[in-house]
Amino acid sequence: MPHSPAAYPRSRLRRQRRTPALRVLVRENELRVSDLIWPVFVREGQDLEEPIASMPGVARLSIDRVVRAAEEAVALGIPAICLFPYTDPALKTAGCEEAWNPENLSNRAVRAIKAAVPELTVMTDVALDPYNAHGHDGIVRDGVILNDETVEALVRMALAQAEAGADILGPSDMMDGRIGAMRDALEQAGHKDTLILSYAAKYASGFYGPFRDAVGASGALKGDKSTYQMDAGNTDEAMRLVARDLAEGADMVMVKPGMPYLDICRRVKEAFHVPTFAYQVSGEYAMLEAAARNGWLDGDRVMAESLLGFKRAGCDGVLTYFAPRIARLLNQSS
Ligand code: PBG
Repeated sequence: MPHSPAAYPRSRLRRQRRTPALRVLVRENELRVSDLIWPVFVREGQDLEEPIASMPGVARLSIDRVVRAAEEAVALGIPAICLFPYTDPALKTAGCEEAWNPENLSNRAVRAIKAAVPELTVMTDVALDPYNAHGHDGIVRDGVILNDETVEALVRMALAQAEAGADILGPSDMMDGRIGAMRDALEQAGHKDTLILSYAAKYASGFYGPFRDAVGASGALKGDKSTYQMDAGNTDEAMRLVARDLAEGADMVMVKPGMPYLDICRRVKEAFHVPTFAYQVSGEYAMLEAAARNGWLDGDRVMAESLLGFKRAGCDGVLTYFAPRIARLLNQSS
């Protein structure tokens, strides 16, 4: 427990807030550029940047532009980038075969980045929603999302991504048993150093709306994802999921969305003491950015404050679409 202060006026807690120098001196938490993972949307084409209407300031980039973004990340000091493909609707199938095509968009982008900036950590998304017409993170039969069949597909997908050179795999699907299955398959294939950052506590959330536009999965989504993603009312279940994924071989865990679930970040970090990340998702970005663009909020200020909140909650890092912008701001002020 904190030491209890002397009574007023011996204690005047405002003393330490009087000047900027005193305030930084006693500040407990800081966001650093090295805490950031930058999620980027990839599309086909050459020299293209296609704005995403519901995420102002964010665009889908052709691979050559993604490589430029990767170079920018390195120049800014951002340690990792995370790729999400916008898949051509013609390649979407019920069996999601494009997901483990070694030449799919995501795998080509990984290779291009690794060739240009090998020092940048590349993370990929392991989930089937970009590869089928119904927008679910699994194989669907008669309206049911099949767990074990999906895990088999995810293992193939994970192996193709590791083969392409991804450093961190991010399973965002919420199927049971996928971490263990992936970890065993990676070991067997000789990918001993591929990390798994498990989307362990991923909630069924309305805040993913703009992302589903960005990857072209929204119009298609039938029903919602609540038979596999978590119920917003639960906290103990998040602890069970994190414990389970760590036991199956995850290196790091994630809580998602971020801002409405800071209590989960705190509980996870305190209980497990493992690298813990939050994903400040598309809807969180959209909401702050919309208010800022309307002049209702100071954009830079709420961006910085919202991201610092993750550090205060115990996170080691955060996935955020603000990554390059906050990095520039932090680099300026240092
Ligand atoms: C799906 C996936 C989603 C996000 C990342 N991976 C959306 C979903 O679960 O429907 C959301 C990211 C964001 O909203 O920024 N595999």
